[in-house]
Amino acid sequence: MATERMKVKAAVTADAIGKTVDVRGWVRTKRESKQGFAFVELNDGSCFQNLQLVIEQTVPGYADLLKQLHTGASLRAVGELKASPAKGQAVELAVRELELYGSADPDSYPLQKKQHSFEFLRDIAHLRWRTNTFGAMARVRNALCDAIHRFFQDRGFLYVHTPIITTSDCEGAGQMFQVTTLDLARLASLQATAGPAGGKPGGFEVDFGQDFFGKRASLTVSGQLEGETVACSIGDCYTFGPTFRAENSNTTRHLAEFWMVEPEMPFYDLDDNAKLAETFIRTILQNVLDRCPRDMEFFRERIDAQAIERIRSIVENDFVRLPYTEAITLLEQSGQTFEFPVKWGIDLQSEHERYLTEKKFGRPVILTDYPREIKSFYMRVNDDGKTVRAMDVLVPGVGEIIGGSQREERLDVLQARMVECGLNPDDYWWYLDLRRYGTVPHAGFGLGLERALLLLTGMANIRDVIPYPRTPKHAEF
Ligand code: 4AD
Ligand code: MG
Repeated sequence: MATERMKVKAAVTADAIGKTVDVRGWVRTKRESKQGFAFVELNDGSCFQNLQLVIEQTVPGYADLLKQLHTGASLRAVGELKASPAKGQAVELAVRELELYGSADPDSYPLQKKQHSFEFLRDIAHLRWRTNTFGAMARVRNALCDAIHRFFQDRGFLYVHTPIITTSDCEGAGQMFQVTTLDLARLASLQATAGPAGGKPGGFEVDFGQDFFGKRASLTVSGQLEGETVACSIGDCYTFGPTFRAENSNTTRHLAEFWMVEPEMPFYDLDDNAKLAETFIRTILQNVLDRCPRDMEFFRERIDAQAIERIRSIVENDFVRLPYTEAITLLEQSGQTFEFPVKWGIDLQSEHERYLTEKKFGRPVILTDYPREIKSFYMRVNDDGKTVRAMDVLVPGVGEIIGGSQREERLDVLQARMVECGLNPDDYWWYLDLRRYGTVPHAGFGLGLERALLLLTGMANIRDVIPYPRTPKHAEF
């Protein structure tokens, strides 16, 4: 019979029994039996399960090969798939031929059989893929991204690529990484020798006209503003890409580089926006549950016993909608002692968000209409003049996973808000043009991909749901 190249995912199914296959992957464990043959658990990342290889002494080169088949070694095995007589797996491979690609020295291989801490694994990010946790995470992350694209594609949204290098600050929070080709060391020495200029000590101004783009440029914190230009011209669209924030927050919820999905919809008000966000969350979570049952089961067994239950409950129950002002009243009346005292006007802390979603309602909450002082310039100002049409989606276990709003479509109000927020409207002339020519009510939101992964997997630290985490003082690899 012809030999078929097969991934482990296909090989471990009952359908494959009887086939002669060629599988390739990495050794997870090796066990030698007293009867003179060996078992190898082979993983190729295609699924959670390993394929059990049964290697008899009749396999050419048996003795030599066996000395090198340590955890981490890579190989090719050819043989027949058989129903396994032993417990633990349905199928095993009766190996006929074995080829070793690369050995892995057991004394120096960083992944030992014992459980490693996630902190340790972050230091060997190139090898952590070979653990059960990161294999499962990689597949769940992939399925989530696919579900996100599918959700918007099914609804006719246009996928647009907004720039990564930008000269505007969408969130107006000044947390941008500067992009420059200026020689910073030379600038520093020029500054040192310039001395007091114009009577001002250290009066040295960088001429950004000399910089690569002829002006100050940064890595984007959000594709929203550019996304709005698309939505307000050709309709529903979404961006999905990396975003960068130089916020110095060393928490389990913040990264300096993370991925964000940002849909933007013309002719949407805040209510339409909240409805879409709710359907979106429920649909993509359900998709991942359907597509990755074994990986999700692993997270439930090993990481968070509530992982699957929590997702099911989010999928099945309506989200709560609550204006910020009512949330503040609930928090004040909660009888809880919070580290950060509650009063109208504060930005909610994680402890407040978790009280609302976990204790008070036991499900996701969409908080709307925040005080204008704590939100970005582009959000539509309400008639009360005090609040804006913001919405944050808060979920149990994580807190905020979505931030969004109805956008300010009135030119004069928007210009005034920019000034209030310390931005120069002239710098945003192109954004204001959308309000000059055929302005429309519109809205959108941003989902933090890694926050959604925290929710799905129950992992405690956001650094462990992204391949190469970037945080203050950490940009290894
Ligand atoms: O609430 P944010 O700042 O909203 C925006 O950026 C809007 N421009 C989105 C829009 O309306 N198009 O960020 C959106 C989401 C947050 O809810 C959170 O899930 C995630 O992005 N996020 C982060 N994730 C990881 N690390 C960080 N430092 C994050 N900052 C925000
Ligand atoms: Mg936010």
